[in-house]
Amino acid sequence: MNTGMITAAYIVAAILFILSLSGLSHQESARRGNWFGIAGMVIAIVATVLNGSVDNYALLIVMMLIGGGIGAYLAARVQMTQMPELVAILHSFVGLAAVLVGFASYFDPTVHFEGVEKTIHNVEIYLGILIGAVTFTGSVVAFGKLNGKIGSRPLMLPFRHLLNLGIVVLWILLLFAFLGSGVTFGSLVLVVMTFLALAFGVHMVMAIGGADMPVVISMLNSYSGWAAAATGFMLSNDLLIITGALVGSSGAILSYIMCRAMNRNFFSVIMGGFGGGASSTSDEDGEEQGEAIAVSADEVAQLLTDASEVVIVPGYGMAVAHAQHPVSELTKQLKSKGVNVRFAIHPVAGRMPGHMNVLLAEANVPYDLVLEMDEINEDLPSTDVVIVIGANDIVNPSALDNPNSPIAGMPVLEVWNAKTVIVSKRSMATGYAGVENPLFFKDNTRMLFGDAKDSVEAIRQALG
Ligand code: TAP
Repeated sequence: MNTGMITAAYIVAAILFILSLSGLSHQESARRGNWFGIAGMVIAIVATVLNGSVDNYALLIVMMLIGGGIGAYLAARVQMTQMPELVAILHSFVGLAAVLVGFASYFDPTVHFEGVEKTIHNVEIYLGILIGAVTFTGSVVAFGKLNGKIGSRPLMLPFRHLLNLGIVVLWILLLFAFLGSGVTFGSLVLVVMTFLALAFGVHMVMAIGGADMPVVISMLNSYSGWAAAATGFMLSNDLLIITGALVGSSGAILSYIMCRAMNRNFFSVIMGGFGGGASSTSDEDGEEQGEAIAVSADEVAQLLTDASEVVIVPGYGMAVAHAQHPVSELTKQLKSKGVNVRFAIHPVAGRMPGHMNVLLAEANVPYDLVLEMDEINEDLPSTDVVIVIGANDIVNPSALDNPNSPIAGMPVLEVWNAKTVIVSKRSMATGYAGVENPLFFKDNTRMLFGDAKDSVEAIRQALG
């Protein structure tokens, strides 16, 4: 392929990536968005492979087959509940690739820059390796925290802010040392900086507690984009720069939106130390919570039969139980009885952005029944029955009325304002943030204990 054709292919791919992102912003167009993304990526890979600088096709094809094979195998096996872990580990690959490309680019004997061009190239290498290394270890730790191999409590080292600041100052000093040195000393500086960045990535994510992990994932998503963009500069690959910038900025916007949804300040998230877990509202306030009232599936079916307005709040437990299909069937059943059923989605319900929307779409729940938190909160007082299915933190009233709660200030679905609230979960256990939930003890709350899928099936049977 000549340069003109490659440039044209890259422009088409870049446009397809932009169309993909815009498609992914709405459920109705998400499938189309995905196809645009796939088409863009195929064009980008073909154009890159056919670009004149590739000379070892055999090695390239073998590596693509191995990488593609592992990717396809993992994608086919991964459960929806494990998606955030998969995303985290994929980010780590982007980070690692940026580090390796950075070193390869520094040692490439065919690259000869002089003067300002050399300085710019070396700054690109330095930044690419730095961001890549932070992304790599940060993502590996995030992966460990999400799949429970590493505890979700924040690691609070003494003087940790000073430690972080010290590393940042060292990075700046090392950058100047790197720019003013030859290859031998320069490589040593690069290696020292890389180890510092690897340690920084571990420390940064270890310091972040369970409740802030969603923001960390999208932040690492953003970092992986900037690492890819830096790699694009090193390789003079315009498409990689554009793609990296798209991923970097969309990840940053998503982090901002999620911080807003959790009422958290982005910088206090990065500083870490929040969402340690074990606190309980009853312990803190010394208040007795009272007794939770259990209910049977038959009683729930009776309440639903008598209702005209029903809202279903899905949470992480619905994903764990694979209850989305029975929930969709229950919706049809109630609709056929003339009950108005709608879904209320909290922005951080589940374990990744859009988690619940994806599950409901998979179960063919019509999009117009699915409402965002801000759209439905004001309708809850006039709702007869709210069914909370495997959700906990996102319906916790202490976020609004207990300033000492670790989730204080986080906007929540105010389900307790409905006439009756049914909570379907297996036990009285806490949710992801490890916080007790006073909702379970309210007078108008009834606990339907058991696996969410079994419980919903039982309600369906009782409805007849
Ligand atoms: P959680 O607060 O984690 O609560 C889920 C509840 O589901 C648990 O209390 C659990 O109680 C129940 N459950 C688990 N398996 C179940 C099953 N098979 N059947 C029935 N119930 C089951 O979930 P949420 O309300 O969706 O809130 C999300 C939380 O995750 C927030 O704290 C959020 O910050 C965090 N988070 C979100 C994301 C994103 S981006 N969405 C990413 C990471 C973390 P039992 O054990 O008693 O059944």
